[in-house]
Amino acid sequence: MRNNSPKKLIEIDTVNLYRTQVGAEGIASEELATLKSELERVHQSLTVKSSGGLDAEFACLNLHDHMSASLPDMESMAEAIRRFEEVAVIGIGGSSLGAKAVHQALAAIGATTSSPALHFLENVNPYPLRKLMQRSAEKVAVICISKSGGTVETAVQYLILRNWLEQNLGKSRARRHQWLITDPERGWLREIALREKIPSLPVPPRVGGRYSVLSAVGLLPLAVAGVDIQALLAGAAADAGRCLADDPKKNPALEIAALFYLLDIKKNKRVSIMMPYADPLQLFVDWYRQLWAESLGKRMETRSGKPPAGTLPVRAMGAVDQHSQLQMYLESRLDKIFTFLAFDAWEQDLPIPLSDDDRKFFPYLEGKKMRDVIEAELQATREVVTGAGHPNMTLRLPSLTAHVLGQLIDLYQRVTVYAGLLYGINPLDQPAVERVKKLAIKLLSGGKGP
Ligand code: PA5
Repeated sequence: MRNNSPKKLIEIDTVNLYRTQVGAEGIASEELATLKSELERVHQSLTVKSSGGLDAEFACLNLHDHMSASLPDMESMAEAIRRFEEVAVIGIGGSSLGAKAVHQALAAIGATTSSPALHFLENVNPYPLRKLMQRSAEKVAVICISKSGGTVETAVQYLILRNWLEQNLGKSRARRHQWLITDPERGWLREIALREKIPSLPVPPRVGGRYSVLSAVGLLPLAVAGVDIQALLAGAAADAGRCLADDPKKNPALEIAALFYLLDIKKNKRVSIMMPYADPLQLFVDWYRQLWAESLGKRMETRSGKPPAGTLPVRAMGAVDQHSQLQMYLESRLDKIFTFLAFDAWEQDLPIPLSDDDRKFFPYLEGKKMRDVIEAELQATREVVTGAGHPNMTLRLPSLTAHVLGQLIDLYQRVTVYAGLLYGINPLDQPAVERVKKLAIKLLSGGKGP
């Protein structure tokens, strides 16, 4: 769904991360200044490693430039998939969360097509599969997504749905209900695509799961849902365009990474709470949580050993968690950083109607809309959190569009890579995750597996 409104940028307010606002728990400008040469180094490294096309080490940061050429193919594939009524999007972690988050956000405001219905099948769970298999197989399509091409949680769901399609439609017709997104050369899914001639799209080899939402991994399911994927990429490009300088004052991604890094290593901030005051962004926080945790939760290599890196990302929801988690956030340890997300405007706001009797109890609601209430809740939390000495920042989204979500995705991918480089760790690997994947297979093989 195209949106031709002017493309405003997200407003990024970092002032409350500094000492001037939150006192000793914040970062002094001089502390940031001492990082100058480090920041120049990591910026140079990110710039070099993200240039040169899809072969670049940080190709995830240039997808907005390089995916545009594949959009027509993707749109026509999406059109074929839209003939179905139900689409199962199978994938886990990075092969699901990005598309799921963007879809949830835009579906919440009616900015996706109502048909087909997308079912993100992420976890090993028979119930949604059983429900889907109660539908007529004629009406169901499957998009199976796995970068490695053989993640077991994804494979079992695909095996079950493929078998059901084949039993109901026959092998040859069942093939026309399937699309695969995987490594261009390797893995079980790639073998199936080649052998069975099932239409497929490649995941660029250097783009890892959690950084892949702007590749076919996210773009194809979102195109099926009618999302303006060109605007998503344009939003990412717009964010990249504001992050070109090696000076944190002129590059918001570098500033956020530097401040979060300093808050961890100098102020012992070990918890990063992301708290949107906007329900449609609930799953965006899950995407951020994965990106941040899997990329940065590692051991640093230092002369004096291998201390742990990273702040634990935590999902909260304003205003709901004001009635729940906020008590602990405020009065327990000063080990937290807050990120508030809010919309500048709600296009579909609702006025609050008051009778004379209601007005006696709620005089302050006179003439107000729902957004006035959530905004007051946000301001109240922000003020109290700041007053308690917790560093916090606020991102204000000008609207809820594919363009703005593209900006947000690029911003966080960039912040994460910068932060990884500052810690001196590899933000692209996930050795602990791989260990568990291997052990699960070993256990399924009766203890004899890889
Ligand atoms: O970010 C990652 O690398 C992981 O979360 C993967 O996306 C997840 O494990 C799924 O892997 P795959 O896409 O290979 O099935």
